[in-house]
Amino acid sequence: MSTAGAVEAFDAVDLIRTKRDKGELSTAEIDWLVDAYTRGYVGDEQMSAMTMAIFLNGMTRREIKDLTLAMIASGERMDFSGLGKPTADKHSTGGVGDKITLPLMPLVAAFGVAVPQLSGRGLGHTGGTLDKLESVPGWRANLSNEEMFAQLRNEGGVICAAGSGLAPADGKLYALRDITGTVEAIPLIASSIMSKKIAEGTGALVLDVKFGSGAFLKDIEKSRELARTMVELGRDAGVATSALLTDMNVPLGLAIGNANEVRESVEVLAGGGPADIVELTVALAREMLALAGRPDADVEAALKDGRAMDKWRATVRAQGGDPDAALPVARETHTVVAEADGVLVEQQALPFGIAAWRLGAGRARKQDPVQHAAGIDLHAKPGDEVRAGQPLFTLSADEPARFERALEALDGAYRIAPPGTAFERGPLVAERIG
Ligand code: URA
Repeated sequence: MSTAGAVEAFDAVDLIRTKRDKGELSTAEIDWLVDAYTRGYVGDEQMSAMTMAIFLNGMTRREIKDLTLAMIASGERMDFSGLGKPTADKHSTGGVGDKITLPLMPLVAAFGVAVPQLSGRGLGHTGGTLDKLESVPGWRANLSNEEMFAQLRNEGGVICAAGSGLAPADGKLYALRDITGTVEAIPLIASSIMSKKIAEGTGALVLDVKFGSGAFLKDIEKSRELARTMVELGRDAGVATSALLTDMNVPLGLAIGNANEVRESVEVLAGGGPADIVELTVALAREMLALAGRPDADVEAALKDGRAMDKWRATVRAQGGDPDAALPVARETHTVVAEADGVLVEQQALPFGIAAWRLGAGRARKQDPVQHAAGIDLHAKPGDEVRAGQPLFTLSADEPARFERALEALDGAYRIAPPGTAFERGPLVAERIG
């Protein structure tokens, strides 16, 4: 709450009226609004009206930049210049089966580019990187800044929880947007993501902006606009930034969950794994390395010859995890088989994500635990020919009572067309923006 007697520079109602009437907020007004909201002078009800006005009427590029800078200024800013090596990070807008961070971090770190990957937990149908990694026995997500720096210096890469010190205004604003129907506003998404990434202090940043049924922005035009806005924000802040627009209509890889996604990531690090996971990991690694000054790095070779795997094992160990320990396995499974011969032509990401969530792989409330062994293993991908009775996917859960609700989510989510039906999928990486 404000200090009694302190004189505030602006009145929140005036600012809300300006945005409501499609006006532009000045830099000073945005700075004050973010600061006053962070310290509790502007209340949630006023900020809700403001976020809805922004949702409906948008913001200019200048306003988005000011909002991003104001959110960065609300907290600490990290600085990796003392590491003596370039840094690169990746942010994904989130998808089903998206475990790319797990193989990507050690792959890029294997080339001497430090990767400070500050990550979050999942909420809703998209999983969180930390939840996945916590399936590794002993692995610890919460590191102090000193531990994080030490790991970056010694191992060259770290995946850990983003502390609450980075852009705290965003934490408060994001929680408000979540309950006021204002998450999907491009100025608010762009400033939210980029304030955290710029405050994190990475030198280079690659954005994996998803489009399609399993993405939170469904159509590619909106994703493109988001990507362009974020790339500009990054560059304005001196971060070498580019974005890939990638298809999230179909789950990525064959594993959706936590422990099974770690297992699949380790397969990729061992030189195998599903083709789409390898393709996206390699594409993002090339982008990160190019932005960090290593355009000629042979990333495929580092997956095949064990360099990326060695880095994975070292970084897991550094955070208390045992890379050789058995990962959790669910108590119950339920396999769904093909009803007829044909070609699998549809496998919608969103319902598969919701089903995995209902099995216990995700959480409905921030404080809920996840079940690390719960999830879905796909046995066929769109374009595959299947025979009647052949397994299509297996659900795993600790409580069999969860299967029914998961199966309800999957009703109509996949389709088998008659044998010989032609199938063509668009490219996984649709565009590069940078
Ligand atoms: N992720 C974020 O960090 N912020 C958003 O607004 C949306 C996704």
